[in-house]
Amino acid sequence: MVRDDVLRTLEMHRGELVSGGTLARELGVSRTAVWKAITTLREMGFPIESISGEGYCLAESSDALSEAGITMELKTNCIARNLCVLSTIDSTNNYLKELASSLPDGYAVVADCQTAGRGRLGRSFLSPSGSGVYISILLHPTIPLERINMITVGAAVALCEAITEAAGFEPDIKWVNDVLKNGKKLCGILTEASMEAETGQLSYAIVGVGINVRTPEGGLPEEIREIAGCLEDFAPHPVRRNALTASFFNHMESCYELIVSGNTEALIDRYRSFIHFLGEPITVIRSGVKEAATAVAINSSGHLIIEQNGQQSTMLAGEISIRLPEQVR
Ligand code: BTN
Repeated sequence: MVRDDVLRTLEMHRGELVSGGTLARELGVSRTAVWKAITTLREMGFPIESISGEGYCLAESSDALSEAGITMELKTNCIARNLCVLSTIDSTNNYLKELASSLPDGYAVVADCQTAGRGRLGRSFLSPSGSGVYISILLHPTIPLERINMITVGAAVALCEAITEAAGFEPDIKWVNDVLKNGKKLCGILTEASMEAETGQLSYAIVGVGINVRTPEGGLPEEIREIAGCLEDFAPHPVRRNALTASFFNHMESCYELIVSGNTEALIDRYRSFIHFLGEPITVIRSGVKEAATAVAINSSGHLIIEQNGQQSTMLAGEISIRLPEQVR
């Protein structure tokens, strides 16, 4: 489509003027077609400046999400090679769930806004326009059911690696899958799977991640202000959502390869590198009951080993809070 080709070219020359004649020649279309494409892109919200007689320029500061902007930085063979970028949707996980049987492995959907974003344990996930990025990936892996938890582990690792690369600081993982900085939750992960009743085989998994990039207009709602944070609160420079999203896909692909090949020990090593609370006192919350414990290790299955009254035990699931001297996170 001419519109996407024009956007791709402007993305590649972000901040520079590209003349209408150059665009038309390079893309093999008329100048009128270029002009129509620019009009449509502006209507879609892309800040394209023009200087009469000189050309068009995608503003350096633009942070509009686009397929062209993401694909340009993609290094994958599978993840997000089929990609759909939406301005708004109820939930990217719901979108993939409806189409799961007809879409290929690695198909990804990215949205600027969700009207009914879903979190774990039936909670909602705040997803306003322009301030975050909401991503779901459909996977059709041939793996034993007991390895499914590795998909969430892989997403947490890929998020941390992408944040390090695209936002310029290293976050922490709070077991099992919260990505934090200074105790503030930056991202959420929701993995959902479907199983074939007859064979007991996994038919698909959908891994959804929501990343808070910057504070939405009007601020974070009161009820999450204490617990949630945004990448730009910690980043040394503005964060570009297209680059962040592409980086997440690139890292997710290498995690996915480790999961499918069964080399989960290598994945767990990457996961452990973002875990900084081992040896610290924690509160474990199991079936709503809180108990004091010490975090000891992450085992090769990604489970948390804790110690209570000199006895070690393994937590397969549940929630923990990490108690630090001056704060509870
Ligand atoms: C949590 O922290 O409870 C998990 C939040 C997961 C949110 C993401 S945003 C993209 C995808 N679509 C959804 O509806 N939820 C996930």
